[in-house]
Amino acid sequence: MAQTLTIRTPDDWHLHLRDGAMMEGVLPETARDFARAIIMPNLVPPVVTSKDAAAYRDRILSALPEGMTFQPLMTLYLTEATDPQDVRAAAAAGLISAVKLYPAGATTNSASGVQNFDNVRAALETMAEIGLPLCVHGEVTRAEIDIFDREAVFIEEVLDPIRRATPGLRVVMEHITTSDAATYVSEGNDDLAATITVQHLMLDRNDLLVGGVRPHYYCLPVLKRRTHRDALVALATSGSRKVFLGTDSAPHTTDTKEAPCGCAGCFTAPVTLPCIAHVFEDANALEHFEAFVSENGARFYGMPLNEGTVTLHRLDDAWTLPTSVTTGAGPVTVFDPGRPLHWRVTK
Ligand code: NCD
Ligand code: ZN
Repeated sequence: MAQTLTIRTPDDWHLHLRDGAMMEGVLPETARDFARAIIMPNLVPPVVTSKDAAAYRDRILSALPEGMTFQPLMTLYLTEATDPQDVRAAAAAGLISAVKLYPAGATTNSASGVQNFDNVRAALETMAEIGLPLCVHGEVTRAEIDIFDREAVFIEEVLDPIRRATPGLRVVMEHITTSDAATYVSEGNDDLAATITVQHLMLDRNDLLVGGVRPHYYCLPVLKRRTHRDALVALATSGSRKVFLGTDSAPHTTDTKEAPCGCAGCFTAPVTLPCIAHVFEDANALEHFEAFVSENGARFYGMPLNEGTVTLHRLDDAWTLPTSVTTGAGPVTVFDPGRPLHWRVTK
Protein backbone atom coordinates (compact mmCIF):
# COMPACT_ATOMS: atom_id res chain seq x y z
CA MET A 1 0.00 0.00 0.00
CA ALA A 2 1.32 3.46 -0.92
CA GLN A 3 2.25 5.45 2.18
CA THR A 4 2.73 8.74 0.37
CA LEU A 5 0.68 10.33 -2.38
CA THR A 6 1.95 13.37 -4.25
CA ILE A 7 -0.56 14.83 -6.66
CA ARG A 8 -1.10 18.00 -8.64
CA THR A 9 -2.70 20.66 -6.49
CA PRO A 10 -6.45 19.94 -6.50
CA ASP A 11 -9.37 22.21 -7.39
CA ASP A 12 -12.82 22.31 -5.80
CA TRP A 13 -15.53 22.62 -8.45
CA HIS A 14 -18.32 23.63 -6.03
CA LEU A 15 -17.64 25.69 -2.93
CA HIS A 16 -19.56 28.05 -0.64
CA LEU A 17 -17.34 30.75 0.83
CA ARG A 18 -20.10 33.11 2.05
CA ASP A 19 -19.04 36.68 2.72
CA GLY A 20 -17.65 38.99 5.41
CA ALA A 21 -16.42 37.48 8.68
CA MET A 22 -17.56 33.96 7.77
CA MET A 23 -15.62 34.08 4.50
CA GLU A 24 -12.50 35.33 6.23
CA GLY A 25 -12.67 32.40 8.62
CA VAL A 26 -13.31 29.62 6.12
CA LEU A 27 -11.29 30.76 3.09
CA PRO A 28 -7.90 29.56 4.44
CA GLU A 29 -9.37 26.08 4.96
CA THR A 30 -9.78 25.76 1.20
CA ALA A 31 -6.82 27.86 0.05
CA ARG A 32 -4.46 25.66 2.08
CA ASP A 33 -5.05 22.58 -0.10
CA PHE A 34 -6.73 23.84 -3.29
CA ALA A 35 -5.50 26.07 -6.11
CA ARG A 36 -8.91 27.11 -7.45
CA ALA A 37 -12.58 26.71 -6.65
CA ILE A 38 -15.88 27.43 -8.33
CA ILE A 39 -17.50 29.89 -5.96
CA MET A 40 -21.23 29.55 -5.41
CA PRO A 41 -23.24 32.76 -5.84
CA ASN A 42 -25.99 32.11 -3.26
CA LEU A 43 -25.19 35.07 -1.05
CA VAL A 44 -27.93 37.25 0.40
CA PRO A 45 -28.60 39.00 -1.95
CA PRO A 46 -27.28 36.64 -4.64
CA VAL A 47 -24.46 37.36 -7.10
CA VAL A 48 -26.54 38.00 -10.22
CA THR A 49 -24.65 40.48 -12.38
CA SER A 50 -21.08 40.76 -13.61
CA LYS A 51 -20.71 43.79 -11.37
CA ASP A 52 -21.72 41.71 -8.33
CA ALA A 53 -19.28 38.97 -9.35
CA ALA A 54 -16.36 41.39 -9.75
CA ALA A 55 -17.01 42.93 -6.35
CA TYR A 56 -17.34 39.51 -4.68
CA ARG A 57 -14.13 38.27 -6.33
CA ASP A 58 -12.29 41.33 -5.01
CA ARG A 59 -13.61 40.74 -1.48
CA ILE A 60 -12.41 37.13 -1.61
CA LEU A 61 -8.96 38.11 -2.83
CA SER A 62 -8.61 40.77 -0.16
CA ALA A 63 -9.55 38.24 2.54
CA LEU A 64 -6.83 35.82 1.45
CA PRO A 65 -4.12 35.62 4.13
CA GLU A 66 -0.57 36.74 3.21
CA GLY A 67 1.44 34.01 1.59
CA MET A 68 -1.55 31.97 0.36
CA THR A 69 -2.44 31.75 -3.31
CA PHE A 70 -5.92 30.87 -4.48
CA GLN A 71 -7.97 31.64 -7.56
CA PRO A 72 -11.70 32.07 -7.03
CA LEU A 73 -13.62 31.03 -10.16
CA MET A 74 -16.71 33.18 -10.09
CA THR A 75 -20.26 32.26 -11.07
CA LEU A 76 -23.47 34.15 -11.70
CA TYR A 77 -26.75 33.13 -10.14
CA LEU A 78 -29.21 32.55 -12.97
CA THR A 79 -32.50 34.37 -12.49
CA GLU A 80 -35.38 35.00 -14.85
CA ALA A 81 -34.00 38.54 -15.21
CA THR A 82 -30.45 37.49 -16.16
CA ASP A 83 -29.26 39.49 -19.16
CA PRO A 84 -27.60 37.25 -21.79
CA GLN A 85 -25.39 40.17 -22.85
CA ASP A 86 -24.08 40.57 -19.31
CA VAL A 87 -23.27 36.83 -19.22
CA ARG A 88 -21.51 37.06 -22.55
CA ALA A 89 -19.43 40.07 -21.53
CA ALA A 90 -18.49 38.59 -18.13
CA ALA A 91 -17.36 35.34 -19.74
CA ALA A 92 -15.40 37.17 -22.45
CA ALA A 93 -13.62 39.21 -19.78
CA GLY A 94 -12.65 36.03 -17.91
CA LEU A 95 -14.62 37.24 -14.92
CA ILE A 96 -16.93 34.23 -14.65
CA SER A 97 -16.36 30.52 -15.24
CA ALA A 98 -19.95 29.27 -15.05
CA VAL A 99 -23.56 30.20 -14.39
CA LYS A 100 -25.49 28.52 -11.60
CA LEU A 101 -29.03 27.26 -11.89
CA TYR A 102 -31.01 26.89 -8.68
CA PRO A 103 -34.63 25.90 -9.06
CA ALA A 104 -36.53 28.41 -6.90
CA GLY A 105 -36.73 27.20 -3.30
CA ALA A 106 -34.48 24.16 -3.76
CA THR A 107 -31.96 24.97 -1.06
CA THR A 108 -30.27 27.60 1.15
CA ASN A 109 -30.77 31.11 -0.29
CA SER A 110 -32.42 29.97 -3.51
CA ALA A 111 -35.52 32.16 -3.43
CA SER A 112 -34.38 34.07 -6.55
CA GLY A 113 -33.99 30.86 -8.55
CA VAL A 114 -35.75 29.89 -11.74
CA GLN A 115 -39.46 29.09 -11.78
CA ASN A 116 -40.28 29.29 -15.46
CA PHE A 117 -37.54 27.85 -17.62
CA ASP A 118 -38.87 29.60 -20.75
CA ASN A 119 -37.60 32.84 -19.22
CA VAL A 120 -33.98 31.68 -19.17
CA ARG A 121 -33.97 30.20 -22.65
CA ALA A 122 -32.04 33.11 -24.22
CA ALA A 123 -29.37 33.01 -21.49
CA LEU A 124 -28.93 29.24 -21.94
CA GLU A 125 -28.62 29.64 -25.69
CA THR A 126 -25.95 32.28 -25.26
CA MET A 127 -24.06 29.98 -22.90
CA ALA A 128 -24.23 27.11 -25.38
CA GLU A 129 -22.91 29.40 -28.07
CA ILE A 130 -19.91 30.59 -26.06
CA GLY A 131 -19.25 27.27 -24.28
CA LEU A 132 -19.88 28.60 -20.76
CA PRO A 133 -20.89 25.76 -18.41
CA LEU A 134 -24.18 25.71 -16.52
CA CYS A 135 -23.82 24.35 -12.97
CA VAL A 136 -27.07 22.76 -11.92
CA HIS A 137 -28.60 22.14 -8.52
CA GLY A 138 -30.64 19.18 -9.71
CA GLU A 139 -33.74 18.95 -7.56
CA VAL A 140 -37.36 19.71 -8.31
CA THR A 141 -39.10 21.69 -5.61
CA ARG A 142 -42.76 20.77 -6.05
CA ALA A 143 -44.23 20.13 -2.61
CA GLU A 144 -45.78 16.80 -3.63
CA ILE A 145 -42.43 15.29 -4.64
CA ASP A 146 -40.77 13.37 -1.83
CA ILE A 147 -37.43 14.89 -0.85
CA PHE A 148 -35.62 11.61 -1.56
CA ASP A 149 -37.00 11.57 -5.14
CA ARG A 150 -36.28 15.16 -6.09
CA GLU A 151 -33.06 14.53 -7.99
CA ALA A 152 -34.37 11.65 -10.07
CA VAL A 153 -37.51 13.60 -10.99
CA PHE A 154 -35.41 16.65 -11.91
CA ILE A 155 -33.39 14.68 -14.43
CA GLU A 156 -36.50 13.50 -16.21
CA GLU A 157 -38.64 16.62 -15.96
CA VAL A 158 -36.12 19.44 -16.20
CA LEU A 159 -32.55 18.52 -17.02
CA ASP A 160 -33.07 16.21 -19.93
CA PRO A 161 -35.56 18.57 -21.64
CA ILE A 162 -33.18 21.55 -21.15
CA ARG A 163 -30.28 19.62 -22.66
CA ARG A 164 -32.37 18.44 -25.61
CA ALA A 165 -33.64 21.96 -26.25
CA THR A 166 -30.17 23.50 -26.02
CA PRO A 167 -27.69 21.41 -28.00
CA GLY A 168 -24.10 22.21 -27.11
CA LEU A 169 -24.94 23.49 -23.62
CA ARG A 170 -22.22 22.28 -21.26
CA VAL A 171 -23.76 21.13 -17.99
CA VAL A 172 -22.30 20.14 -14.63
CA MET A 173 -24.76 18.17 -12.53
CA GLU A 174 -23.62 19.20 -9.13
CA HIS A 175 -23.40 17.17 -5.95
CA ILE A 176 -25.07 14.12 -7.47
CA THR A 177 -26.58 11.78 -4.91
CA THR A 178 -28.33 8.95 -6.75
CA SER A 179 -27.61 6.01 -9.02
CA ASP A 180 -30.10 7.65 -11.42
CA ALA A 181 -27.79 10.65 -11.75
CA ALA A 182 -24.67 8.48 -11.97
CA THR A 183 -26.22 6.55 -14.85
CA TYR A 184 -27.49 9.68 -16.59
CA VAL A 185 -24.02 11.26 -16.47
CA SER A 186 -22.21 8.12 -17.56
CA GLU A 187 -24.50 7.72 -20.55
CA GLY A 188 -24.47 11.40 -21.52
CA ASN A 189 -22.28 13.01 -24.16
CA ASP A 190 -19.10 14.97 -23.49
CA ASP A 191 -21.07 18.14 -22.75
CA LEU A 192 -22.26 16.58 -19.49
CA ALA A 193 -20.23 16.07 -16.31
CA ALA A 194 -20.92 15.76 -12.59
CA THR A 195 -19.43 16.69 -9.26
CA ILE A 196 -19.62 14.60 -6.09
CA THR A 197 -19.14 15.71 -2.48
CA VAL A 198 -17.21 14.13 0.36
CA GLN A 199 -20.33 13.35 2.38
CA HIS A 200 -22.17 11.63 -0.46
CA LEU A 201 -19.17 9.34 -1.03
CA MET A 202 -18.80 8.47 2.66
CA LEU A 203 -22.29 8.43 4.16
CA ASP A 204 -25.84 7.34 3.55
CA ARG A 205 -29.14 8.32 5.12
CA ASN A 206 -28.74 5.86 7.97
CA ASP A 207 -25.74 7.87 9.12
CA LEU A 208 -28.00 10.93 9.17
CA LEU A 209 -30.98 9.39 10.94
CA VAL A 210 -30.31 6.15 12.83
CA GLY A 211 -29.82 6.47 16.59
CA GLY A 212 -30.57 10.20 16.60
CA VAL A 213 -30.57 12.96 14.02
CA ARG A 214 -27.09 14.23 13.10
CA PRO A 215 -27.54 17.86 12.03
CA HIS A 216 -23.99 18.13 10.72
CA TYR A 217 -24.78 15.40 8.17
CA TYR A 218 -27.83 17.27 6.88
CA CYS A 219 -27.24 18.82 3.47
CA LEU A 220 -29.10 19.24 0.21
CA PRO A 221 -29.56 17.19 -1.81
CA VAL A 222 -30.13 15.01 1.26
CA LEU A 223 -28.11 11.81 1.76
CA LYS A 224 -29.73 8.82 0.07
CA ARG A 225 -29.81 5.08 0.74
CA ARG A 226 -26.67 2.95 0.69
CA THR A 227 -27.15 1.59 -2.84
CA HIS A 228 -26.99 5.15 -4.20
CA ARG A 229 -23.81 5.86 -2.31
CA ASP A 230 -22.29 2.67 -3.73
CA ALA A 231 -23.15 3.86 -7.26
CA LEU A 232 -21.47 7.22 -6.61
CA VAL A 233 -18.33 5.59 -5.25
CA ALA A 234 -18.23 3.24 -8.24
CA LEU A 235 -18.48 6.17 -10.66
CA ALA A 236 -15.99 8.42 -8.82
CA THR A 237 -13.37 5.70 -8.51
CA SER A 238 -13.87 4.29 -12.01
CA GLY A 239 -11.42 6.66 -13.66
CA SER A 240 -14.24 8.26 -15.71
CA ARG A 241 -13.29 11.75 -16.82
CA LYS A 242 -16.89 12.93 -16.50
CA VAL A 243 -16.83 13.17 -12.75
CA PHE A 244 -14.79 15.32 -10.37
CA LEU A 245 -14.65 16.71 -6.86
CA GLY A 246 -17.05 19.48 -5.94
CA THR A 247 -17.14 19.53 -2.17
CA ASP A 248 -20.19 21.72 -1.68
CA SER A 249 -18.45 22.63 1.57
CA ALA A 250 -21.19 24.84 3.01
CA PRO A 251 -20.37 26.53 6.31
CA HIS A 252 -23.14 27.49 8.72
CA THR A 253 -22.46 28.46 12.32
CA THR A 254 -22.86 25.59 14.75
CA ASP A 255 -25.90 27.15 16.45
CA THR A 256 -27.79 27.43 13.14
CA LYS A 257 -27.10 23.74 12.38
CA GLU A 258 -28.01 22.48 15.86
CA ALA A 259 -31.44 24.10 15.83
CA PRO A 260 -35.12 23.08 15.60
CA CYS A 261 -35.00 23.96 11.89
CA GLY A 262 -31.31 23.45 11.17
CA CYS A 263 -29.57 24.74 8.04
CA ALA A 264 -28.50 22.42 5.23
CA GLY A 265 -24.80 22.09 4.49
CA CYS A 266 -21.71 20.14 5.58
CA PHE A 267 -18.47 22.00 6.26
CA THR A 268 -15.99 19.57 4.76
CA ALA A 269 -13.20 21.85 3.50
CA PRO A 270 -10.73 21.18 6.35
CA VAL A 271 -10.85 17.38 5.85
CA THR A 272 -11.69 16.92 2.19
CA LEU A 273 -8.51 15.42 0.78
CA PRO A 274 -7.91 12.87 3.57
CA CYS A 275 -11.55 11.76 3.34
CA ILE A 276 -11.42 11.33 -0.43
CA ALA A 277 -8.12 9.45 -0.21
CA HIS A 278 -9.82 6.93 2.11
CA VAL A 279 -12.72 6.50 -0.31
CA PHE A 280 -10.33 5.74 -3.17
CA GLU A 281 -8.15 3.49 -1.00
CA ASP A 282 -11.16 1.46 0.13
CA ALA A 283 -12.14 1.01 -3.52
CA ASN A 284 -8.59 -0.03 -4.45
CA ALA A 285 -8.52 2.88 -6.85
CA LEU A 286 -5.85 5.24 -5.53
CA GLU A 287 -4.49 5.41 -9.08
CA HIS A 288 -7.60 7.43 -10.03
CA PHE A 289 -7.52 9.77 -7.01
CA GLU A 290 -5.47 12.49 -8.73
CA ALA A 291 -7.72 12.56 -11.81
CA PHE A 292 -10.81 12.99 -9.62
CA VAL A 293 -9.46 15.81 -7.45
CA SER A 294 -6.97 17.55 -9.76
CA GLU A 295 -7.52 16.82 -13.45
CA ASN A 296 -11.00 15.95 -14.68
CA GLY A 297 -12.60 19.21 -13.60
CA ALA A 298 -9.96 21.42 -15.20
CA ARG A 299 -10.27 19.43 -18.41
CA PHE A 300 -14.04 19.83 -18.49
CA TYR A 301 -13.77 23.57 -17.86
CA GLY A 302 -10.98 23.89 -20.45
CA MET A 303 -8.50 25.25 -17.91
CA PRO A 304 -4.82 24.41 -17.50
CA LEU A 305 -3.88 21.77 -14.93
CA ASN A 306 -2.23 23.17 -11.81
CA GLU A 307 1.56 23.09 -11.70
CA GLY A 308 2.05 22.76 -7.93
CA THR A 309 1.66 19.62 -5.85
CA VAL A 310 0.29 18.52 -2.51
CA THR A 311 1.42 15.47 -0.58
CA LEU A 312 -0.61 13.20 1.64
CA HIS A 313 0.91 10.71 4.05
CA ARG A 314 -0.74 7.63 5.46
CA LEU A 315 -0.09 7.64 9.19
CA ASP A 316 -0.14 4.52 11.34
CA ASP A 317 -2.13 6.36 13.98
CA ALA A 318 -5.29 8.23 13.07
CA TRP A 319 -5.02 11.98 13.53
CA THR A 320 -7.42 14.06 15.58
CA LEU A 321 -9.64 16.27 13.43
CA PRO A 322 -10.40 19.82 14.48
CA THR A 323 -13.94 19.90 15.85
CA SER A 324 -14.61 23.42 14.67
CA VAL A 325 -13.16 26.42 12.92
CA THR A 326 -13.45 29.79 14.59
CA THR A 327 -14.80 32.60 12.44
CA GLY A 328 -15.84 36.15 13.18
CA ALA A 329 -19.42 34.98 12.54
CA GLY A 330 -19.17 32.22 15.17
CA PRO A 331 -17.78 28.67 15.34
CA VAL A 332 -18.43 26.32 12.41
CA THR A 333 -18.44 22.59 13.15
CA VAL A 334 -16.10 20.60 10.92
CA PHE A 335 -17.46 17.54 9.13
CA ASP A 336 -16.62 14.37 11.04
CA PRO A 337 -16.70 11.38 8.69
CA GLY A 338 -17.34 9.04 11.61
CA ARG A 339 -14.27 6.96 10.95
CA PRO A 340 -10.59 7.37 11.79
CA LEU A 341 -8.55 9.29 9.23
CA HIS A 342 -5.06 7.99 8.55
CA TRP A 343 -4.39 10.02 5.41
CA ARG A 344 -3.23 13.54 6.15
CA VAL A 345 -2.09 16.41 3.97
CA THR A 346 1.53 17.18 4.81
CA LYS A 347 2.45 19.35 1.78
C1 NCD B 1 -25.81 24.87 0.47
C2 NCD B 1 -25.64 26.16 1.29
O1 NCD B 1 -25.65 26.06 2.52
O2 NCD B 1 -25.46 27.21 0.69
N1 NCD B 1 -26.32 23.83 1.32
C3 NCD B 1 -26.24 22.51 1.10
O3 NCD B 1 -26.81 21.74 1.86
N2 NCD B 1 -25.54 22.01 0.11
C4 NCD B 1 -26.69 25.15 -0.68
C5 NCD B 1 -26.60 24.10 -1.76
O4 NCD B 1 -25.59 23.98 -2.43
O5 NCD B 1 -27.58 23.38 -1.95
ZN1 ZN C 1 -23.77 23.98 -2.85
